[in-house]
Amino acid sequence: MDAFTIHGGAPLSGRVRVNGSKNAALPILAAALLTDEPVTIRDVPRLADISNMLRLLERLGCTIDEHESNGMRGLTIDVEDESDNTAPYDVVRTMRASVCVLGPLLARRGMARVSLPGGCAIGDRPIDLHLRGLEALGARITLEGGDVVARTPPTGRLIGKRLFLGGANGPTVLGTANIMCAATLAKGTTIIEGAACEPEVVDLAKLLNAMGAQVMGAGTPRITVEGVERLHGATHTVIPDRIEAGTFLIAAGITNGKVTLENCPSDALVATLDQLERVGVHVMALPGRTEDPMRETVEVQCERRLKPTIVTTQPHPGFPTDLQAQMMALLCVADGNSVITERIFEQRFLHVAELGRMGANLFHQGPTVVVSGVRELIGAPVMASDLRASACLIIAGLAARGQTTVRRVYHLDRGYESMEKRLNSLGALIERVDEKQLVEI
Ligand code: EPU
Repeated sequence: MDAFTIHGGAPLSGRVRVNGSKNAALPILAAALLTDEPVTIRDVPRLADISNMLRLLERLGCTIDEHESNGMRGLTIDVEDESDNTAPYDVVRTMRASVCVLGPLLARRGMARVSLPGGCAIGDRPIDLHLRGLEALGARITLEGGDVVARTPPTGRLIGKRLFLGGANGPTVLGTANIMCAATLAKGTTIIEGAACEPEVVDLAKLLNAMGAQVMGAGTPRITVEGVERLHGATHTVIPDRIEAGTFLIAAGITNGKVTLENCPSDALVATLDQLERVGVHVMALPGRTEDPMRETVEVQCERRLKPTIVTTQPHPGFPTDLQAQMMALLCVADGNSVITERIFEQRFLHVAELGRMGANLFHQGPTVVVSGVRELIGAPVMASDLRASACLIIAGLAARGQTTVRRVYHLDRGYESMEKRLNSLGALIERVDEKQLVEI
């Protein structure tokens, strides 16, 4: 297993491009199962989660052709054999987003067998809402040997319906993606009430419409899908990754750096930019090649002393849970007390104890952490427990005095492409090493 050693204290400076979004690409790749014509997806990041999804698509009869243009990775997915309907446990346990294939497989092949995802480091992550939504469209669902087995009605087609998808913790992003995909080939009209409004849902709807679907209202809590008989091939470029962009902005902020981000989806980061402004991290749009607010060039600069703030994670357009851990690292060195409340995954706090090892002053109770800012963090050996917690610890390490060692960075590799190389190109001092080579301090 790999680890990072980080020598903290170097302010980040320079220019970096935000990659295509992992969380947009995953359901988009799965949507290629809805047609037997080739679907080409551009700007797909090179990540462990994406490789797992491609492996799953291959098992489901797809061929995948990889190409490159303008430095962006493109993938063409072509379904050649539609006889297998199973997403087995050995894939699902490595990547929960495998559940994205459920809706497309069911709608196109009439049946899907997807292993039920188990527990997760960031808390319980049930898929009950996905299943209720599919049942509302007429699917018959059973649990067999740890697998969810879903079948269309005997006609072979799902049936459009008005349904409510919200749950106790708000809307579900991948649940909305699954139901939206399933509804594209259903008979009649589906109205999803309580739909997730995340930009990744909007991006998926764009691809589906390019494939001939009729999806309206994506990005609002009510999505209407007029079912069609069949979908065709299409080409689509994935939106930039708002969480990666936010991670770079926070990393620049904590090191007192000056960084230019290209391809920054500012329009999808309004709550994050608002919070950063409050703490003294200023993000300004620069005149760029495009007027697209999802692909801006921005410059980030920050004040010497950061101010504290109150952050509550919420569904989009609120502050994203996927930046909560990184924001916590930043607030550890702000001048005063901050309060962070996690409303999406209430147990997503495994980074708290690790930040404590670096001298952070944190009080955790229930879904809330009070962050009492300290003058500096101190490098220490720490352990990454999930994807965003790893990003948090790396950000903390960039600002800490001395050396930080972050173990288990395979979590990071699931969601950030070559992060150490890209941070080093901005002046960070990070080395990827084999954990076995580490001599504990
Ligand atoms: N929930 C249910 N029942 C369900 C589905 C969800 O109760 O059937 C609950 C969840 O437990 C959670 C809330 O609803 O409390 C929202 O979960 P959601 O379904 O929206 O999460 P997800 O779709 O499984 C995606 C992202 C996550 C991100 C969440 C929230 C992907 C591949 N994953 O997960 O990303 O945190 O939305 O925005 O898109 C990450 O990238 O690090 C990550 C975890």
